Amino acid sequence: MQPINDNTKMKSVKKRFITTILSLCLLLMSAHNMVAQEKGTFTAGNKTFLLNGEPFIVKAAELHYPRIPSAYWEHRLKMCKALGMNTVCLYVFWNIHEQKEDEFDFTGNNDLAAFIELAQKNGLYVIVRPGPYVCAEWEMGGLPWWLLKKKDIRLRENDPYFLERVRLFEQEVGKQIGHLTIDKGGPIIMVQVENEYGSYGEDKEYISAVRDIVRESGFDKVTLFQCDWSSNFTLNALDDLVWTMNFGTGANIDNQFKLLGELRPNSPQMCSEFWSGWFDKWGGNHETRGSKEMVDGLREMLDRGISFSLYMTHGGTSWGRWAGANSPGFAPDVTSYDYDAPINEAGQATEKFWELRKMMANYMDGKKMPKVPSELPIIEIPAIRFTEVAPLFENLPTAKQSVDIKSMEEFDQGWGSILYRTLTPEVTTKSVLNVLNAHDYAQVFVNGTLIGTIDRRNNEKSLLLPPLKKGDQLDILVEAMGRINFGRAIKDFKGITDKVEILYHTENGSELTVNLKDWKVFNIDDEYSTMKNRHYETLTDQKVPGCYRATFNLKKVGDTFLNLETWGKGQVYVNGYPIGRFWQIGPQQTLYMPGCWLKKGENEIIVFDIVGPQETVVEGLKKPIIDKLALATPKTHRKEGESLNLQGESPVKVGQFAQGNSWQQVDFDSPTTGRYLCLEAGSSHSNREYACIAELYLLDAKGVRLSREPWTVAYCDSEEVVAGNRAADKIFDLQESTYWSSAKKAPFPHQIVLDLGSEQTITALQYLPRMEDGAPHSIKDFKIYIKSTPFNF
Ligand code: GLA
Repeated sequence: MQPINDNTKMKSVKKRFITTILSLCLLLMSAHNMVAQEKGTFTAGNKTFLLNGEPFIVKAAELHYPRIPSAYWEHRLKMCKALGMNTVCLYVFWNIHEQKEDEFDFTGNNDLAAFIELAQKNGLYVIVRPGPYVCAEWEMGGLPWWLLKKKDIRLRENDPYFLERVRLFEQEVGKQIGHLTIDKGGPIIMVQVENEYGSYGEDKEYISAVRDIVRESGFDKVTLFQCDWSSNFTLNALDDLVWTMNFGTGANIDNQFKLLGELRPNSPQMCSEFWSGWFDKWGGNHETRGSKEMVDGLREMLDRGISFSLYMTHGGTSWGRWAGANSPGFAPDVTSYDYDAPINEAGQATEKFWELRKMMANYMDGKKMPKVPSELPIIEIPAIRFTEVAPLFENLPTAKQSVDIKSMEEFDQGWGSILYRTLTPEVTTKSVLNVLNAHDYAQVFVNGTLIGTIDRRNNEKSLLLPPLKKGDQLDILVEAMGRINFGRAIKDFKGITDKVEILYHTENGSELTVNLKDWKVFNIDDEYSTMKNRHYETLTDQKVPGCYRATFNLKKVGDTFLNLETWGKGQVYVNGYPIGRFWQIGPQQTLYMPGCWLKKGENEIIVFDIVGPQETVVEGLKKPIIDKLALATPKTHRKEGESLNLQGESPVKVGQFAQGNSWQQVDFDSPTTGRYLCLEAGSSHSNREYACIAELYLLDAKGVRLSREPWTVAYCDSEEVVAGNRAADKIFDLQESTYWSSAKKAPFPHQIVLDLGSEQTITALQYLPRMEDGAPHSIKDFKIYIKSTPFNF
């Protein structure tokens, strides 16, 4: 080391002095833009929120930090600020923070406190929604999969184990951000208790338990609220919490706050989720919502002093394994959470952004709109050709033995794929393989040859097997997609959940069922380290399930969209980052690749394709492709040439629905029993050739709503699946903002036939028209038929 003389010492003291002054100046300058770090208050006052005692309209932008690379957090926050927002609203996803029981991770991209501090630095208040359940099109609605290791767990209920785990998690959240509430000088103005519980059940005791846990975890002085739908918020509304409503673009705002106004005339009003767009599912059309409707709705709320959170203002990406799935049925969500939001998945301003910014400029109390940050660089990457492959069947992990088939969770596996292998009995004729139930996408092989697939999206459960020799090797490779994030079906086990059997006829004609046993089970996780450590060999022409690896060089980095159009189904990893799932069926064909995860020089890409590619090439595009469905047409509920024949059937009820936005009930003259229900629409209030239904329920003998989980659509004469996702199953998808619509120019009458799954006694039907102002194309004349046997076609 060099000795330090006095002169250098003097210089260094001076330097330190100047640096200190400079830092102080910088601090002061940025403090100017900051949300006050002094202790403050945020409360519900008379018809308005009060910030430090003054009326305050919350203009919140919803965005989720785990859906944005941390290097881009500040960019996205500044983009929200440039829309005139004063607050950000975020969920805390329990399962990304506690991926393994008792191992909490709040570092890097999971650094919740850092995100909230960054919001404060950028002059934004924060609303925190720590679940425990969040929905959000996120794996299992944010709940950790390992809860399912306790097979009889009652999720989102007063189950002591569930609540104990909730407490441990919320306490960790409290440790991270409890000091950032407004009363302690932080930016957090409100904290949410649970999430839309009204669409799950009625259980004030459970909601009270969650409220208490949240309070005890460090949120005892901050305003707590519950968010729900206007149609069901009273079910679980607690007296000491603020009640807010969720609804989408185009909704009739008066209607949405009507009941709240009656019950709590002095409450401030807030739309805690105003849906700017919607999410996409594999195999469905890309969802969009009009910019004008969104801007008009927000303007109307601002004019009336109603607070809001725009869900999503920036959706981002459900990286790796984190996209969820919707139910009833199984509708896995795509990787992109673009949401048709004003700030797109890559953080760019869309047309919606500019329209919204223009409108919001009028509500800035005379202040200037903050500047729009510049766009991040976008690059193209020329075709990357793959030279190495690690075939899946040659890279299997050590097998476990199991007499009975069991779910993935029972083998202590959370995500990825699972291979079940057994030897067959001799079956000389063709037979049926029943797989009950494959969650979520199964490929069946006999002696290594692919026989067929079973896709849970289409409720498939079986396939035909060729004649079998005794001891043929039967492989069932099951890939898990996201766990269901909505409704009771969130208890979503993966792999094969029940049994596998072969059904066949013996020579003398009797039917035999063999329940297959003695399985070898291979747990194929989806960790990058597993992908990387497989044994790679030079790629020949063979396109097999497996990991494909390549490197590519970059002179400059930037955001890009990796085109996977020629690949089958699986996940992509770049430089170790899990970029997300792809599936050839679309509508998403490219995966957003943030430039901050790329490097100058050599980069590595691994594509794990469980189906096998057509061509092993990936290029980086400047624009995303998230709206290209590679299916002839999305699924409808009418077979070619099929037409319902109601001749000789007599309706149990004939009548007219009223015009208008809210729920209507049709009481039957007497209880009617049956399994198949046909609702026939004869005309609409719009006098046009369209009929629409948002939701439909049936009441049982006690006047209680029947569970819609076993329901399927047996028939629908006309469904709009080209211009939108308006198939008939939307009438029981639990989402009041989505709906069934007959297709353009299809003439009345329209019929939907529901199969209720089993014989039921029905006393009434409840119907909800579309939620937009004027309830577009609501049904006028109707007839209802109920039968125990299927209808005739
Ligand atoms: C509800 C949920 C959100 C999200 C939206 C749909 O409002 O609260 O988490 O799932 O639906 O995007």
